Parts: sequence; C-alpha cells; structure tokens
Amino acid sequence: MVSPVLILFSTFLFHVAIAGRTCPRPDDLPFSTVVPLKAAYDPGEQIVYSCKPGYVSRGGMRRFTCPLTGMWPINTLKCIPRVCPFAGILENGAVRYTTFEYPNTISFTCNPGFYLNGTNSAKCTEEGNWSPELPSCAQVKCPFPSRPDNGFVNYPAKQVLLYKDKATFGCHDTYTLDGPEEVECTRAGNWSAQPSCKATCKISIKKATVLYQGERVKIQEQFKNGMKHGDKVSFFCKNKEKKCSYTEEAQCIDGTIEIPKCFKEHSSLAFWKTDAWDVKAC
Ligand SMILES: *[C@@H]1O[C@H](CO)[C@@H](O)[C@H](O)[C@H]1NC(C)=O
Ligand SMILES: *[C@@H]1O[C@H](CO)[C@@H](O)[C@H](O)[C@H]1NC(C)=O
Repeated sequence: MVSPVLILFSTFLFHVAIAGRTCPRPDDLPFSTVVPLKAAYDPGEQIVYSCKPGYVSRGGMRRFTCPLTGMWPINTLKCIPRVCPFAGILENGAVRYTTFEYPNTISFTCNPGFYLNGTNSAKCTEEGNWSPELPSCAQVKCPFPSRPDNGFVNYPAKQVLLYKDKATFGCHDTYTLDGPEEVECTRAGNWSAQPSCKATCKISIKKATVLYQGERVKIQEQFKNGMKHGDKVSFFCKNKEKKCSYTEEAQCIDGTIEIPKCFKEHSSLAFWKTDAWDVKAC
C-alpha cells in the first residue's frame, strides 16, 4: 500500500520537475550584498553574496544556483568588520577608543607640554588601516620670556616652560604696551608675540583743535596726560590762496609725534588771526 503522504510528495516533485519553481528574493545577511538582486529567480539562475567593503568572511564570496525546488540553500556566510592594527598607545599622550574595527574612529590627546603632531582622530578604513596616519606627541619647550624695557613680564615659576604655557606683559607708568598682554608658548617653541613698552608723547602745543577718532577735541585737554603710543590725531592747516582748511595726520610713535609742518600755532595775543579749525574745509 502506498502512503498518502508519499503520493502527495511525489506529486509535488512531479510538479516541480515539469514547471520549475521560482526562487524568492534572497535573505539579507548583515554587511553583505547580493548580485543580481531581484524579487524572483528562475531555476538555474545564479546569485553571488559578497561582503560589503570593510567587511570580510572566512570563505570569501558565496555563489548559489536557484534549484528546481525554488528554495535557496542555507547560507552560512558571515561578514565581519576588518580590524585595523593595534593603536591603543600614544607615547606622552592618550588614545580614546572602543574597538579598532572598521568603521570606528579613535581619538588622541597629548599630555600637557606636548604638541600633537598630526590630527586628533583617525578612522579605520575599508582597507583595514588608519587614516590619516597616527600622530605623535614631541615635547615643546619655550625659552624664558625676556622683560621688556620699562615694563615687566610674569610667567609660571617652573623649571621649564612648555607648549601652551602663558606669559603676561605690562608696562610701567606712562608707557603703553605694544602687542598683546598675554602670549603663549607655540608649537614652534617660541612665544606667540614679543610685546614691548612704548613711551607716551608729551604735547608741546598749548592750543589746538584736532580730529581724534572722528571727533573735534581740544588737544591740550584730551591729552593732558600725554598721547599714548599709536594714537593718531589730525591737525587743521590753512590753504592761504583758497582761504580754506584741510587736515594732516600725526601719530605718536614711542614718545615722538611729528606735528605737521603746515600747522601754525598762533600766540594767544594774536586775537585777530583766525585758527585753521575755524575756517571752512577745502
Ligand atoms: C611631525 O610628524 C612628521 C611626520 O611624521 C615629521 O616629519 C615631523 O618631523 C614631525 N614634526 C615635529 C615637530 O615633530
Ligand atoms: C616662531 O618660530 C616660527 C618657526 O621658526 C616662525 O615662523 C615664527 O615667525 C616665530 N614666531 C614669532 C612670534 O617669533
């Protein structure tokens, strides 16, 4: 006697043999691709699984043929991330990481006084190497900063001054700092700037209206304590032929200001003379 099950199964095989069954869209496997990828395949059609860039499998790629049963064979392909070379140690610095696998990024810092030569992070590439190249940390020392004439400098009381250490400058009374108050030890092993102290200009003129920062001011009032290094004013001068006035600029440079030659100061007794700043502009 023939079992009903066997009859059913034989019928099934018969059907498959005659018509063939199409295979469905193949299963997705993590980090892999299938070529060609379709919704259905006829018996005899081939597909290839391979790992995505950055992932590898022990057996390499896998090729399958759609069988008459219409059922893809079991696929044991496992795609695992590539691992970049060990990069867990940075001399005189530290490395932050989770794993060294594609596509992770690791980051770097240097100990105080060390300069990071390179970038502060690197990525494990598809090819399994670090990009950009791993950095290094080279200690940077700066010389002790020198005291400016007529001023002073403060810096940390240490045996050596290192990268990113700071020094601050100041000047004695009546002197003005030319440069930043604070400087930093640079990666090149020198200071970011070399400030100096510049003298204030004494104003010898008793009476004049000048332009200072766009405003008309009385020079002897505005600068009764002297003009700071770098300050600029414009003096009014007369054009005698055209009977009008124009301006010429003067700047205090380290205690010296050159008064424009065209500027004429009248004695306060010469009351009949008009000053240039009271004459219409040319
Ligand atoms: C920084 O690294 C590059 C490449 O490794 C090297 O040629 C260079 O000398 C280094 N510079 C310093 C200041 O260490
Ligand atoms: C510091 O040294 C570098 C390299 O020698 C140079 O290019 C730079 O101008 C120096 N900076 C100062 C402020 O002197």
